[in-house]
Amino acid sequence: PKVALWGGRFAGGPSPELSALSQSTHFDWRLAQYDIAGSRAHARALAAAGLLTEPELARMIDALDVLEQDVVSGAFLPVLDDEDVHTALERGLLERAGDELGGKLRAGRSRNDQIATLVRLYLRDQARTIGTQVLDLVDELIVQAEAAGSAPMPGRTHLQHAQPVLLAHHLLAHAWPLLRDVDRFLDWDVRASKSPYGSGALAGSSLGLDPAAVAADLGLEGGPVENSIDGTASRDVTAEFAFVAAMIGVDLSRISEEIILWNTKEFGFVRLDDAYSTGSSIMPQKKNPDIAELARGKAGRVIGDLTGLLTTLKGLPLAYNRDLQEDKEPVFDQVATLTTVLPAFTGMVRTMVFDTDRMAELAPQGFSLATDIAEWLVKQGVPFRVAHEVAGSCVQECEVRGIELWDLSDDDLAKISEHLTPEVRSVLSVEGSLASRDNVGGTAPARVVEQIEAAKERTTEF
Ligand code: ARG
Repeated sequence: PKVALWGGRFAGGPSPELSALSQSTHFDWRLAQYDIAGSRAHARALAAAGLLTEPELARMIDALDVLEQDVVSGAFLPVLDDEDVHTALERGLLERAGDELGGKLRAGRSRNDQIATLVRLYLRDQARTIGTQVLDLVDELIVQAEAAGSAPMPGRTHLQHAQPVLLAHHLLAHAWPLLRDVDRFLDWDVRASKSPYGSGALAGSSLGLDPAAVAADLGLEGGPVENSIDGTASRDVTAEFAFVAAMIGVDLSRISEEIILWNTKEFGFVRLDDAYSTGSSIMPQKKNPDIAELARGKAGRVIGDLTGLLTTLKGLPLAYNRDLQEDKEPVFDQVATLTTVLPAFTGMVRTMVFDTDRMAELAPQGFSLATDIAEWLVKQGVPFRVAHEVAGSCVQECEVRGIELWDLSDDDLAKISEHLTPEVRSVLSVEGSLASRDNVGGTAPARVVEQIEAAKERTTEF
């Protein structure tokens, strides 16, 4: 039998074209168990308000339990006539509890407050799953950082050699944004923990139901929303989730770009494990960094999800509009994308092997120790403006003669500036340069060891 949640004032059923457009069970069915949890909580609120007797409540809960088992086992599935997850589950409930009892459950609630609540329950679980996967990746970045020890690499700005840094320092520079993404989910979770249930269609309910009890029942520790219109019409909580997901996509994409570069013949910084690389159908020699490329590509996709959602929201009047049904697929897509990308990405990071000899060889090239000369001069009392000029002259001299800074003789140095005594050589090594940058957050090996400890502490908190 066909079950619709509306129909009394309609002459007939919906046209097939409308049904085809309106139908959402192909994506919202994944909310079924959350919907049933909401129904249990709502049934208890109805009983507390005297609208269900205790025996009715018991039978209702039993029927919902059976329905849930059938949903989980796949014995109960939505059919084409079910407009959405709520409609399908109403049909399932009526089949199990009978029309008389089953027909009582809808009192005092609307699909508008239901869906707003279910999405929060779903997204909170997904945020935990994604957050945990992000922390797994951070763990592997830390393991790689520890393994790298004090191995240097060329640090870059504008993709040009800038100053030597520790490989560990660079790897951790990718870990911290990911840790902040996890923090963002944790901050967001506070706002996501408010329950719209009880808002009804938009105005609340006249039936004496207790939204606080429903919120507590659903584990939404923030309690009920303060405003029933806001509860049913706003989607900023969904959009904020979508932002964090998009940001994770962007952060993965930036790591990807570097791995792709590092993995080229020209850089030769990193070798990817065979199990985390792909081949070419025509070029037998090829080994491609497809995980990094897919992660970079899918960043565009999860950003698109966020953009699409915000665009859906921007012109909507209060309160509920059916446009809001479009809030779900973008975040579902983000969840599916990130939960697939992250484990592969983590495996790639875990198994990649750095060529630290090559990185060390390149670290001082491109005159990356010029800043060390300037800062050494400042410590001798030379004003930085002058020091910068002098160090620049050293670079110019080297460039003309095709040599490196450390190839300059004592005479060459003295000719460039009287301040350049032979002692300046003490900073013309990668080790000296690295060790000298020993402020908090700097790349000195001792500081990076502290940083690793700090990052490790952070990753145990989710
Ligand atoms: N399926 C809708 C959504 O996802 C909820 C149903 C609200 N429909 C309605 N006619 N009020 O937003």
